[in-house]
Amino acid sequence: MLRGKKILLGVTGSIAAYKSALLTRLLVKEGADVKVIMTPAARDFISPLTLATLSKNPVITELFEGNQWADHVRLGRWADVMVIAPLSCNTLSKMASGACDNLLMAVYLSATCPVIVAPAMDEDMWKHPSTKENLLKIISYGNKVIPVSSGELASGLFGEGRMAEPQEILDYVEGHLSASGDLAGKKALVTAGPTHESIDPVRFVGNYSSGKMGIEIAQNLRSRGAEVHLVLGPVSQPVSLNGLNVTRVRSAEEMYMAATSIFPFVDIAIMSAAVADYTPKDKSQEKIKKKEEEWALSFIRTRDILKSLGSMKKANQLLVGFALETQNEKENALAKLSSKNADMIVLNSLNDEGAGFGHDTNKITIFDKEGHTYPFDIKSKKEVAKDIVDMIIQKTNA
Ligand code: CTP
Repeated sequence: MLRGKKILLGVTGSIAAYKSALLTRLLVKEGADVKVIMTPAARDFISPLTLATLSKNPVITELFEGNQWADHVRLGRWADVMVIAPLSCNTLSKMASGACDNLLMAVYLSATCPVIVAPAMDEDMWKHPSTKENLLKIISYGNKVIPVSSGELASGLFGEGRMAEPQEILDYVEGHLSASGDLAGKKALVTAGPTHESIDPVRFVGNYSSGKMGIEIAQNLRSRGAEVHLVLGPVSQPVSLNGLNVTRVRSAEEMYMAATSIFPFVDIAIMSAAVADYTPKDKSQEKIKKKEEEWALSFIRTRDILKSLGSMKKANQLLVGFALETQNEKENALAKLSSKNADMIVLNSLNDEGAGFGHDTNKITIFDKEGHTYPFDIKSKKEVAKDIVDMIIQKTNA
């Protein structure tokens, strides 16, 4: 998603500098051309050789190396975006005051591109009034700040000040660069994850959906400029939801209410959630105690969200559904396409190795209402998300 984008990565002296190796790798993997600038202090935390190898470009630290002048103005003008991660307290203070005592600061002060920073420091430093003031100053200069998170810090204390994870920084950068993407100005709704149907206060009926596929689709739509509303069922794995407008729900009914209220305002809707088709008829307010040897639960049908959106759909809206099948895949997928009035159905067959719940890979076939069939190879869910969004972009432009 960053193919052809030029990124200057500034690394400063902080323990979190070790994460800049992973960030560099992620940026390069997404197709970006990455040049790394380190402050002298950063070299105490991570080797320039590591970052040079991962970025496939020499790492620059000094304004002069031998007889060579590192042309800071050219570097500042070369980049589409400058990312400083980690941003130490010291470099933050220099950015606020305009001090220029190393190459990174010289490039920052000459940069004509947007600058995104990911601070990293101990909680007491993070909460110091001078840090707060410096942050407000650099924001007022137009810099973008990726929020710190809470957790264990280098000091061994727990609190605020941890640098955002590399994946979150990548998502943020992609989101920022996509303001001019193919889907800029479009609004999208995505449902993802399982639903949990309560039996009593301590039990539910659920399914194995991890939500990964839908979240990747939401992130891909976001990275291509769409405003994305994600209605997310109860997923257990930690996931990056940066840049998405998230509504958390538990049951099929809650998902129905959220999706139907957002749908009228969007251009694109993708229903990737594994919604329960049935919910217990009676939900006990108290924990049900065991009694007889056998126990039968009665279920009633939930409302079909995709079908309801299909009946509300206007001519300028594109509706995409999923079909998870174990038999008569094509026939069932085509039946869902027409009965739910969708524009596209994405089929994943549980018969395909590496497809479906829990896997990091998926194998899909897309059927559209014009009668076309598009089979795809097995790919990572990230790549599958890109294929689905590519198809959506084709349809919205048609
Ligand atoms: N879906 C939905 N609301 C439901 C059930 C399903 O929106 N109550 C959506 C899913 O998000 C998916 C599509 O419908 O996009 C197909 O889901 P699936 O469970 O495969 O099919 P069903 O319609 O439930 O049919 P069946 O159980 O017969 O396979």
